Amino acid sequence: MPIVTIMPSGKTKEAESGTRILDILVEAGENIGHKCDGKASCGTCHIFVNEGRKTLSKTERLENERLDAVVGVGSKSRLACQAKLGAENVTVELLGFSSGY
Ligand code: FES
Repeated sequence: MPIVTIMPSGKTKEAESGTRILDILVEAGENIGHKCDGKASCGTCHIFVNEGRKTLSKTERLENERLDAVVGVGSKSRLACQAKLGAENVTVELLGFSSGY
């Protein structure tokens, strides 16, 4: 199973492919926002994917539209509620603040 490394805490978590990154972060006890409960409408679960970005599920239109409205978005940005784990390891970075609106 792929391993998710969570920064800045450095925790690691093993999970099945297809698991939402948000679920992995919550299970790891990380303080990640998810006000809309995974409906891609709040933007509070914004994270950076530092490694393994290509192994994650593709960014769909709804996620792209939401990210367009979030502050601090960059090329590594994903919504943790929309990104699903693929076959390879990933490193994600929590932004330490709620970047949603
Ligand atoms: S939980 Fe609201 S956009 Fe991900």
